[in-house]
Amino acid sequence: MWQVSGSHGYIDNEKAIRSMGIYVDKGFTTWDLADHYGPAEDFVKIFRERRMNIKGADSLDGVNFFTKWVPRPQNITKQVVQKAIDISRKRMGMKALDMLQFHWWDYQDNNYLKAIEFLNELKDEGTIKYLGLTNFDTVHVKKFLDMGIEIVSNQVQYSLIDRRPEKRMLELCKNHNIKLLAYGTLCGGLLSKKYLGQPEPFNEQLYTASLYKYKNMIDRWGGWKLFQTLLKKLDEIAKKYKVSIANVAVRYVLENPIVGGAIIGARLGISEHIEENERVFNFSLNPEDLDQINGVLLKSRDLMKIIGDCGDEYR
Ligand SMILES: NC(=O)c1ccc[n+]([C@@H]2O[C@H](COP(=O)([O-])OP(=O)(O)OC[C@H]3O[C@@H](n4cnc5c(N)ncnc54)[C@H](OP(=O)(O)O)[C@@H]3O)[C@@H](O)[C@H]2O)c1
Repeated sequence: MWQVSGSHGYIDNEKAIRSMGIYVDKGFTTWDLADHYGPAEDFVKIFRERRMNIKGADSLDGVNFFTKWVPRPQNITKQVVQKAIDISRKRMGMKALDMLQFHWWDYQDNNYLKAIEFLNELKDEGTIKYLGLTNFDTVHVKKFLDMGIEIVSNQVQYSLIDRRPEKRMLELCKNHNIKLLAYGTLCGGLLSKKYLGQPEPFNEQLYTASLYKYKNMIDRWGGWKLFQTLLKKLDEIAKKYKVSIANVAVRYVLENPIVGGAIIGARLGISEHIEENERVFNFSLNPEDLDQINGVLLKSRDLMKIIGDCGDEYR
């Protein structure tokens, strides 16, 4: 739901909330949002209330809303944490948050250690059902595990372009039964047929914050020419399975058993790719496909060396 925040085109609230129902009816039942994604948390409340009134409370069974707490640097007390979580609960109209994903900007500021302890207490008290992280690197996830905190997931950038999680994070997650929730899997739409054979876009042509963010990532990864080679290879594989380039890109990430889900951005009420994205569940990539893809990826730069571990681009 970053796509409703205002930096991805004008969102008509009514249209957006109505379209949430279309996704849920089609089986896209898990939503990712954050306290700072514009009206996202408010949309959840309106959506849930309407659906409950029209279709009954059962219609929300299995529909999950994973928000985030992204605090600005400050001294952390239990009161600060409680207040933030209460605001999200109120905005979303939920007694308990399905999952709270915690983000922290600056590891030099040790307040994150207090924050996670207090979040854990809130989980024990029942206002948060599950505790997840977002954009934490391997060293700091391990720190939480050493403190005895139970973490169910870490939401990180993971795509054919950004494979940093494969370097260190996957191993830790595997050993501690933590799932990765992958974002950026479509590079804002760049990893799709729309850009196959196209000249390199100018900055002004990158019409969402997401496209801008990931075009920058592609530049660091290896540039537009190599990206086109990758798109061509993905297109060959896509044709074999009668799916799309976007499907192959998402499937690549989902093939990894440590990945709990790929979070696909949706510009609610503006554009949708529901039918196409459903096809991601109809096929699987075999070792030969993966070898062919890896043949292209081998020519790219190592983003771990350039940027650092997961989330370091935010620090
Ligand atoms: N934790 C974090 O720091 C963080 C950071 C970024 C994102 N996220 C989460 O991840 C979500 C996804 O955002 P993202 O920025 O990573 O975007 P993304 O999923 O890589 O790209 C989404 C865009 O891809 C296009 N698209 C979707 N399905 C397609 C298909 N089948 N074929 C062609 N194009 C398709 C759509 O573009 P059009 O709308 O132009 O058609 C859509 O807006 C966000 O909403 C947010 O919840 C989290």
